Amino acid sequence: MNDKLIAKLNACLAHEWTGVAQYSQMGFMVSGLWREPYAEMFFESAKESFGHAHRIGDKIAAMGGVPTLERNKVQVGDDIHGMLQHALEFEQAAVKHYMEALEMADGVDRPLVVLLEEILLDEQDGVDKLSRIIREHGAAAAAEGHKKTKTG
Ligand SMILES: [Fe+2]
Repeated sequence: MNDKLIAKLNACLAHEWTGVAQYSQMGFMVSGLWREPYAEMFFESAKESFGHAHRIGDKIAAMGGVPTLERNKVQVGDDIHGMLQHALEFEQAAVKHYMEALEMADGVDRPLVVLLEEILLDEQDGVDKLSRIIREHGAAAAAEGHKKTKTG
């Protein structure tokens, strides 16, 4: 059971490392009028992913595992709409990862459940925040007669 749980935590960690790289790249690349409001938000999200990676990696080591150095494919997008869409998908995937880890830890390791629940709340906040931003972007783009998003 411990091995399976460590493997799942490593899947969470790989996702967080992906977030560090992906959100940093979005912060580097966001341009034009959108740069001012969004570069800082993306850099803050990169820091949040690093903070989660730190907590999960530390826990994996404490459980006798080896924290992974792998990450998944980074998806950045060509413009702010694509970036926000990829960011939302990233946060939704994070919620899924932590829900799955929670199911495995439930009844087995109470302190780990608490840790995972704290991180899960951050991930759900990310989903909520990005969903609202994308809603507004979609409405603004429609009012200007543009397509809603490149991906949607
Ligand atoms: Fe995270």
